[in-house]
Order: sequence, then C-alpha cells, then structure tokens
Amino acid sequence: MKIIVVKDYEEMSAKCAEIFINQLKNKPDSTLGLATGGSPVGTYKKIVEAYNNGEVDFSKVKTYNLDEYCGISILHPQSYYYFMHDNLFNHVNIVEDNVHLPSASGENFVKQCDEYNAMLHEAEIDIQLLGIGSNGHIAFNEPGTPFDLETHVVELTDKTRQDNKRFFNSIDEVPTHALTMGIKNIMAAKQIVMLISGANKADTVLQLLNGPITEEFPASILHKHPNVTVIIDEAAYSKVQK
Ligand code: GLP
Repeated sequence: MKIIVVKDYEEMSAKCAEIFINQLKNKPDSTLGLATGGSPVGTYKKIVEAYNNGEVDFSKVKTYNLDEYCGISILHPQSYYYFMHDNLFNHVNIVEDNVHLPSASGENFVKQCDEYNAMLHEAEIDIQLLGIGSNGHIAFNEPGTPFDLETHVVELTDKTRQDNKRFFNSIDEVPTHALTMGIKNIMAAKQIVMLISGANKADTVLQLLNGPITEEFPASILHKHPNVTVIIDEAAYSKVQK
C-alpha cells in the first residue's frame, strides 16, 4: 500500500486527478471504477477542467460505479446516478451507454444485483476510485461484510446513515438500504486509489494503517491488493504523526 500525505483536500484532489488523467492519456479506452461522496468531488472537478483543456477524451471510456441507494429515484439529487451526472458525466463527452451504475429503481433488488454483477464480470476495471466511511466501509460494504461477497443488497448502519445525513434534509430521508459492489468486485480492479480527507477521518486512518486485516474494518482488505495508493490529507493523517 502506497501512502501519499498531502496538505489538504485541494492537493488530494489534484494528486488523484493527475493519476486519472495520466491513466486516460495512456489508455484512452480505460475502464474506470468510480465513487461518490464528498471525497471525490474535487477530483471530478479537476478531471472536467482537464477535459475542457483538451487533455483527456472520454469517447472510449467506460465507467462502473460502486453503489446506489435503494428506494430513491435516479432523478433525486442524492441518488448516485444524479451525483455522477452532475459532477462528471454531464460535463464530458462520455457515451451514456458506457456509464454503468447499479440500478435500484425496481422492487427486485436481488435480481438487480445479479444483473450488475454479471456486467462487472464482463468488465475489467483498470483503476478504481474509493472513499472510505468513518467505520472503514468501502462502497457500502459495512463492517462484518464477508470479504468474498460480490454485488449485494445491504442494510446501512446507523453510523453510515448519520454520516450521510448531511446530504439530505433529515435522517428520515436517508435511505435504509443500498446496492453495492462487494469487496471481491472491488479487489478485482487492477489498481485502486483511495481518498481520505478531514479530521473526522483521523481515527479511520489510524485503524487502516495500523489495525489488523479484519472484516470488522472492510478497508483493511486493501493491504492484500498489489496496487493501492491512499492519498491522505494532513488533517486525516494527524493522529498517525503523534
Ligand atoms: C458513502 C459511499 C462511499 C463513500 C463514503 C464516504 O457511504 N457509499 O463510497 O466512500 O460515503 O463518503 P465521504 O467521501 O463523503 O466521506
């Protein structure tokens, strides 16, 4: 696991965007694994800037997202479908057919997981972007999720719903369930880049870097992946330095 400590969110976003921009320059038909949440927003902004400057082209790029909330329409501003279009896809020349997110719009969530999982088996993700939940979750794989699980329906923990409440009007609006790539799907990516920013993730960083590999802290599995870069800002790294 390669650790890069940067000054702040801005620098983290610039560093991560640089990795993705180089990936697209070297392989214009890359398959990207993408994430939502606050952590990647700055990265997407910088990738859009690079697109506007003519540095990157998305016409041959394919994307697969990690997860989606159950029970909210894709038109809801907090759906991950909406988030991805708002932050990235609407601003670049990606072909909509090349954009993939788990669909949680129907009623048969298990079937929708199986369909998404089948798509993932056909894909080969060159580089996967990840954030991390304060409890160590990756995508929506909450503590206790078996490492060998593939795409599945998950009941969100109270901690995750509280953490994500800031994007909704109230806790009652935060969905209780989501569809998520499993840890096995994530580990299949050739390369993984994780972003961690802010003092509220300082204990999370400590656990990630110093704790054991355990299903109780899902991100700990990344120590077993051969090509992981974690970009951490000083606030999130503050407890490691003490
Ligand atoms: C959600 C997403 C994760 C994300 C996490 C952290 O739970 N499903 O993919 O990593 O939030 O989000 P943030 O970057 O806002 O801290």
